[in-house]
Amino acid sequence: MATASRGQWSGRTGFILAAAGSAIGLGNIWRFPYTAGENGGGAFVLIYLGFVALIGVPVLLSELAIGRKTQRNAVGAFMALKPGSGWRFVGGLGIATGFGILAFYSVIAGWTLAYLWGAVTGQIGGALTADESAAIFTQTIGNPALAIGLTAIFMLLTVVVIQRGVSKGIEAVTKVLMPLLFIILVILTVRSVTLPGAMEGLAYFLMPDFSKITVTVVMSALGQALFSLSLGMGAMITYGSYFPDEENVVQAGVSVAVFDTLIAVIAGLMIFPALFSVGVQPNAGPGLVFVVLPSIFGALPAGSLFAVAFYALLAIAALTSTISLLEVVVAYFVDERGWHRAKAAWVMGSICFLIAIPSALSQGGVDFLTTLPGIGVDFLSLQNIIWGNYSLSIGAILITVFAGWVWGIPRLFAAIESSGHRLPMPGVLRFLIKYVAPIAVALVLVFIVWTQQYF
Ligand code: PHE
Repeated sequence: MATASRGQWSGRTGFILAAAGSAIGLGNIWRFPYTAGENGGGAFVLIYLGFVALIGVPVLLSELAIGRKTQRNAVGAFMALKPGSGWRFVGGLGIATGFGILAFYSVIAGWTLAYLWGAVTGQIGGALTADESAAIFTQTIGNPALAIGLTAIFMLLTVVVIQRGVSKGIEAVTKVLMPLLFIILVILTVRSVTLPGAMEGLAYFLMPDFSKITVTVVMSALGQALFSLSLGMGAMITYGSYFPDEENVVQAGVSVAVFDTLIAVIAGLMIFPALFSVGVQPNAGPGLVFVVLPSIFGALPAGSLFAVAFYALLAIAALTSTISLLEVVVAYFVDERGWHRAKAAWVMGSICFLIAIPSALSQGGVDFLTTLPGIGVDFLSLQNIIWGNYSLSIGAILITVFAGWVWGIPRLFAAIESSGHRLPMPGVLRFLIKYVAPIAVALVLVFIVWTQQYF
């Protein structure tokens, strides 16, 4: 069924790099450290690891199996497995979610370019006080033309990769960028953990203080795990749809989860020692890597070089994720509407850019978007709440219910094992997919509806 025009990964390694590229993103290097910092450090990290293993991996394998079995985009996959049913709307929700996430993620990704440029030109990386650093951040993200321009550049990069196709575009680019990302990250981490006072940061990040565990910590950890593994919106269905029939899905899926988690943990090892070594509190929130780190680089020998490396790392991580977000949308138009890939990439990338403009203007550029009347948050945060929180959790619940109950475990497992590789611990996996995953994610949904606390 894999038509030549749809494309395919060259093999397991190509898939793993591309899917790890999707998973590893701003979620790992920007969001994971500040979320861990706000939620008590080590205890959050421990719970996070548990959720990746118990919920992340089963959902990831389900999405991959649905994709590979049907070799279709998110909507087409549900139509193939349950023709004529309403399940295709779950795929539709996934495509809308890909669009919605891309429309705010690309704005933040744009900031990484501004900071990369600032680091290259020396504005960032030298001595900066905390106030100066905060002022640079406010001016950068609040400048309307700059914010829109950077979002446009990022979207353009994403479109150019997507239009080149699965193996010549996504795979070729991620094959170069992912090893580069890893090398930069390791260099920065070695620098950070050898700073004076690094131990204190490591202890905060690695030693669980169980008294810090609250419902919020637990719920944020699960939400973060879903977002970080790119689950709940069909990205892994789409990437799984290009996965060759004869390859081992379990091994590939577990590798992706392990890489994603490893990178998040290493990002923590890079950031917390640096914070503690200069006596900065870890709970700065979303500004952590844009406001706090710039004021630290100046205190490091060769800080300006490290600043360039760090923001290059962030930009690379973001790009391999925006690629996967746009691919979810493009795959739908290619498969179901018969569009050319290039047309789908340019049309959808352009529309998404237009939808991103209010988010780009919502960080100080335009007053009413910065504090939405009657809602109180900015437009970008609202997009994250709608798509990154509600939609992703609803999608994850429905996908697991579909996999575990509607399509059903026997067919799901047969699809996973169709390459001839046996599924380890089928009994455990069955229990996790049917009961644990949907119930746990439903609790996250109840929690965010109830408390209006988001991740
Ligand atoms: N996983 C990506 C990150 O950690 C974000 C993402 C979510 C990408 C959903 C695709 C789909 O940054």
